[in-house]
Amino acid sequence: MQIQFLDLKRMDEELKAALKSKFSDMLDKGIFSGGDEVNLLESQISTYLKSPFSIACANGTDALELALRALEIGVGDEVIVPAMTWVSTAEVVVMVGATPVFWDTDADGLLASDWEKAITSKTKAVIPVHLYGKMVDMESLMQKAKKHKLFVIEDGAQSFGSYQNEKGAGTFGDVGCLSFYPTKNLGALGEAGMCLTNSAELNKRIRLLLNHGQLVRDEHELLGRNSRIDSIQAGFLNAIFEKFDLFQTRRKNFASMYLEGLTGIDGLQFPTSILEEGHNAHLLVIQTVRRVELKLFLMDKGIGTAIHYPHILPDMKPFHSDGNFSNARKLSKQVLSLPLNPWMKEGEIEYIVKAIRDFFT
Ligand SMILES: Cc1ncc(COP(=O)(O)O)c(C=O)c1O
Repeated sequence: MQIQFLDLKRMDEELKAALKSKFSDMLDKGIFSGGDEVNLLESQISTYLKSPFSIACANGTDALELALRALEIGVGDEVIVPAMTWVSTAEVVVMVGATPVFWDTDADGLLASDWEKAITSKTKAVIPVHLYGKMVDMESLMQKAKKHKLFVIEDGAQSFGSYQNEKGAGTFGDVGCLSFYPTKNLGALGEAGMCLTNSAELNKRIRLLLNHGQLVRDEHELLGRNSRIDSIQAGFLNAIFEKFDLFQTRRKNFASMYLEGLTGIDGLQFPTSILEEGHNAHLLVIQTVRRVELKLFLMDKGIGTAIHYPHILPDMKPFHSDGNFSNARKLSKQVLSLPLNPWMKEGEIEYIVKAIRDFFT
């Protein structure tokens, strides 16, 4: 059996047909920037997440950078960022001229709850990342941020569909940032992202920033750039969104099959929180000190895996920074992501489970 970590050409024939039909409709309409599909995407997401303002943009990295710029964070400011995340979370802080201050994570890879210790007189914001789809305790984080008058930018790139106390990931902070990169739970057929906010003022600023500072053509109110979403991607996302709940059910079902098959193995840690209701099951990340061996063993059996992520940010050349990042560093050496997506077959999960059991026994 050959099982890639993720093979997007395996998506359902029914979905492929809907996407082809969407493309054909859009070709006939001839609107490739802005337009009805972008408006529909924004309003659908606003309704789904109960977010007053949803602003589609070019990708998740831009969404984070737009959030920082809209909040006027820049030179001389510090932003607290977890040591273990995708590089974008810290990259954007540097891109706006501010300094990322890294803080360790907890054992699950989420910003450690004692992050307040990283606050200095220069701190302007904190960026909690809902890594792998598991949410940071947002009530507690928001309280601390409020106490210190810090902005909160939620990096919800991996957490579309996750929620806490019935509130969607990305709707707690001043701005929530989503990625619709093709590998995400709600993924486009290319690049796309979104900012969420409750603030009419931030909504306006983000819309200006992503469109050369203009709300109306040729009236440039501030310095911006082009970070607009492609209409075609908005159209594809609208088609894919119709299946989102079904795909989530399949993900959760596969996650519980993994859990049933893999609990109780000595030397393997299973992410039990993935089955909690508010977890979107974006990535199924196991931990073992024998990661390298296991990865090779599975590869030999035709099973693709991935590592999210092999290096912590403070160890990377562009960010080099000292500190105690022991949890994050341990994760970077032990995590291994198993295939989990709506287009898998139950027999494939059984095959992977058996291979892992064989490895450990
Ligand atoms: C945690 C996190 N932040 C930000 C991003 C950036 O999103 P994009 O790839 O759409 O720019 C990603 C995407 O992988 C991510 O996983």
